[in-house]
Formats: sequence, C-alpha cells, structure tokens
Amino acid sequence: MAETQMSADGLKSLARYMDQFEDKESAIIKVLYEAQHIFGYLSNDVMLFIAEKMDIPAAKIFGVVSFYSYFTTTPRGRCQIKACMGTACFVRGSEKVVSEFEKQLNIKRGQTSDDLKYSLDVLRCVGACGLAPVIVVNDKVYGKATAADVSKIINEIQG
Ligand code: FES
Repeated sequence: MAETQMSADGLKSLARYMDQFEDKESAIIKVLYEAQHIFGYLSNDVMLFIAEKMDIPAAKIFGVVSFYSYFTTTPRGRCQIKACMGTACFVRGSEKVVSEFEKQLNIKRGQTSDDLKYSLDVLRCVGACGLAPVIVVNDKVYGKATAADVSKIINEIQG
C-alpha cells in the first residue's frame, strides 16, 4: 500500500477514534497514544491534525509530547530494541549488552537504522529486576541477557 494511502487511512481512523471523546482535553494522552500506535511516531503533521480536530492549541499538544518520554517525534524501527539500564540491570552488565547491539547494528543508543529496521533505546527499570539484564524487543522480553546473546536475539527478530 502506498505511504500516502496509509497516512490517509491512518488519519481517518485517528479521526474516528477522536470523535468518541466528549471532553477533548482529558483525552489528549489517549489520542496521542493511539496516533503513535497507528503511525509509529508523532510527526508535526499528525500533531497539528490532532490539535485542529480536537480544538486544542498546538503548543499544548507539543508540550505533552515532549513531556512524556514514551512519545517519539522521529520514526522508529520495526524492531524496537529497548535495553533496561536501571540499577539491577546496570550492575549485571547491561552496558556491555547495549554496546554489543550498537556494534552489531551499527547504530548508537537512541538511534534508528537508515532502513527503519531497528531502533535501539535504553530504559529505566522495567520492573523485572529478577531477570536482569533485561532487553525488550517490541513486546518480547529477554532476561539475563549477555553480550554473547546479542547475535542470537538479532537473528531471532529478523526471522
Ligand atoms: S533494573 Fe532492569 S528491570 Fe529493574
């Protein structure tokens, strides 16, 4: 499907989602969450569309997006690799695991590969310290990860 068609369909479905809310102000987070789910990230155009449709100042939408680290304004990879760098994971070697991902994927933490296949991010504690170091790829959790596991994980997510 062409990208413009995808965006048009995405905007239509976002508009339908927004229509269900009476109190627009209190629905901002839900709407932004849905928009990021549809488009993968929040472009300026999408944020302006939301502002106009919900009759909320664009500055307010931009403010909310920049406040919450969950939201991203740049395209992310189809495989979103997130490494926990909370204390337990850090102590058990997450830095080495992240460095190995950087080396093998040829991107730095916080970056996305040019082909939009991978993005690599670091997180604070994800609440699974017993499994430290923890890597989350999309919704799948890899516990007790080591640098030696990195190529295995990459092969698996490519598959
Ligand atoms: S510090 Fe990584 S899961 Fe808690």
